Amino acid sequence: MAFDAPLSRRTLLKGGAVTAAALTFGGLSAEAARAAVAETARSGAFGFGVASGDPTATELLLWTRVTPTPDALPGSGRGPAVEVRWELAADEAFTRIVRTGRVTADVSRDHTVKVVVSRLTPYTRYWYRFTSGGQTSPVGRTQTAPDEAGQLHALRMAFVSCSNWTGGFFTAYRGIAARDDLDFVLHLGDYLYEYGNDPRIAGVAGSGDRYGPNALIGIRDHEPATEMVSLADYRVRHALYKTDPDLQASHRQHPWIVVFDDHEITNDAYATGAENHERDDDPDTAYTEPGKPAGIRPEGDFLARRERAFRAYLEWMPIREPAQWQPQPSQGRQFFRRFGFGDLAELSVVETRQNRAEQVPATVGGALNPALTDARRHLPETQQMTWLTRGITAEKTAWHLVGNQTVFARVFAVPRAGVLGGQVFNTDQWDGYQADQRTLLDAMAASGGTDPVVLTGDIHSSWANDLPTDWARYPADGNSVGVEFVCPSITSNGFKESLGNSAAAATATTAAFQATNPWVRYLEGIGHGFTVLDVTPERVQADFWFIRSNGDKGLAVDPRLDPQATVGYETSYVSVKGSRKVSGPVGRLGARSDQPRTAR
Ligand SMILES: [Fe+2]
Repeated sequence: MAFDAPLSRRTLLKGGAVTAAALTFGGLSAEAARAAVAETARSGAFGFGVASGDPTATELLLWTRVTPTPDALPGSGRGPAVEVRWELAADEAFTRIVRTGRVTADVSRDHTVKVVVSRLTPYTRYWYRFTSGGQTSPVGRTQTAPDEAGQLHALRMAFVSCSNWTGGFFTAYRGIAARDDLDFVLHLGDYLYEYGNDPRIAGVAGSGDRYGPNALIGIRDHEPATEMVSLADYRVRHALYKTDPDLQASHRQHPWIVVFDDHEITNDAYATGAENHERDDDPDTAYTEPGKPAGIRPEGDFLARRERAFRAYLEWMPIREPAQWQPQPSQGRQFFRRFGFGDLAELSVVETRQNRAEQVPATVGGALNPALTDARRHLPETQQMTWLTRGITAEKTAWHLVGNQTVFARVFAVPRAGVLGGQVFNTDQWDGYQADQRTLLDAMAASGGTDPVVLTGDIHSSWANDLPTDWARYPADGNSVGVEFVCPSITSNGFKESLGNSAAAATATTAAFQATNPWVRYLEGIGHGFTVLDVTPERVQADFWFIRSNGDKGLAVDPRLDPQATVGYETSYVSVKGSRKVSGPVGRLGARSDQPRTAR
C-alpha cells in the first residue's frame, strides 16, 4: 500500500490541479463508464469473457458470466435463471470433448458460474467454452499443472499485481495473453481498486478520490463513479474490469491463481477496519464531492462491507470456493492454499488481510514504535503461519514458492531529517509485523534442502532481494535464508508517479533505498508490467517485462496512457539452488525445457 493511499480522504498526496474543463469532462465520463458495463452486457450472453483457475494435476476451475436478457446487468439483481452448458475438450476445434455438463446461472451469484472439472490428465492443455440460449462463449485455453511424481517438467508463470483501471490501459495483460510459454498467471492482489472518479481539487482538503493520471479522465473512469461500498457496487466494479479486452484475453489464454490484497475490499484493510472505511460512528467522515453538498458519508459496518466484497470476488474471480475455517469460525474463510509441481516446487498462496492486526505508525513519541515487534500482533493468523512454516520446512521439494501480497524483506526508510535510525519504510508490509517476519525467516533458515522464494506485489515497483537474518551484519556475514522477487504494477502509480512524475527522482530514490538496504539487489521504480518466473532444479529466474510507448518504459512519457503501448523485456535476476541469494543480471529466458501435452 505504500503508494496505494493516493487520494483517499485521510491521506492526501500531491495531485495535479484540476481544471474546470476536466471536471466537466469527468462528469460526462461517468456516463461513458456506466455505458461500458451495460454495452458489454448487451453485446451478447458472454460479453464478460471466460476464465479458468486454480490448476492442479487433475482439476481445473472454469468461469464465465452469462447475460441471458438485456436487463440482467451486473449488480442489477435482474434476469431469469438460465441453464449454461459447458464443454472441456482436448483440442481447440472441440472434436474431442473430454467432459461436459450443465449448471444454472441466476441472480443469487450475479449470473456468474463456476465449474470444477476433475479426473483430468496432469500437465495437459485443454480448451473450454460455454453455451446458453443458443449463444456460445469465446473459447478459453487452459492447462493442468506440471505435477507428476518422479517426473521433471518445466515450470513457468507470470506474476502480477495492482491493476488499477483508472491508472492506465492493461497493456501488460495483453503482453501476457500473447505468451505461449506460461503454465499459469499468479495475481497477488489489487486486481481492482475501490476508488471513485472525482479528481482532487487543488486546495480542497478531502476532495476527490480518483487514483491515477488525470489525463485518463473521461477515457478510463471507474464504474460505479463513486467508491464501491454496496454489493451492487462491488459487482459492477468487477464487471467493469472484465469488460477490458486485454484482461479478457489474458484470462482466456491461461489459467490464473488469484488472491486478494486490500483494494478488493478497501485500502489498508485489517481484521476489523480499513484506512479507507468510514464507520458510522467515525468522527472523520466529512466528505465533499464536486457538485454535491458537503456532508457525511458513512460506510456502515466494516465486516458487513468486507463480506460483500468477498461475495462479489468469489462470484467474479476464477478461484475455488474457500473452506470455512472450522476450528475457529471467527477467523473467517480459508483462502490460503497450496499447489504442487512434482519434486521441483510447491507454491503456498497466503492471504494477509482477513486477520491482520491494525497497522501502526513506524514511530511514536520520537522513538521506534514498540508495537512493531509485539508478538501479539499478527499479519497472517497463527493457524495460517503454522501451515506456512510447516510447508516450508517439510523439505518436500527443491523450491518453496510463497505467493505473498506485501513486501517481506526488511526495508528501512532512507536516512534524512526526521527519520530515526532503524525506522522502517512502510508498516503495512511485513515490517509492520516483525514477530511474524522473524518467525518466517526462522522457518526459512530451518528449511534444509528446500530453498524459499517469496513472490510479492503491492509496492508498484520491481525488486530482487536477499533475505538476511541479521540486517545489521549483512552483507558482511553472508547469511541469507531465501530470496524475494517483487513484480511491478500493471498500472498503479509507482515511485515515479508518487515523486511528481520525475523519472530522475524515482531513480535517485530507488538508488537511495538500495544504499540503505544492501540486500535489495535490484530495484526499479519507473516501469509497469509483469514478471515471469521460471523454475528449474538448478535455479529460479525472474524476467522483468515493462510496458513501453514507442520503446519508452516511462523515462519521458507515461506508457500507461498509450492504448497502443507494447511490452518489452527489461532485465533478469536469478537465485542459484543452494545459494539463497540473488545474482545477476543475467540474460533473458529461452524456450521451456518441455511442453504440456496436447491432443493435437
Ligand atoms: Fe496496489
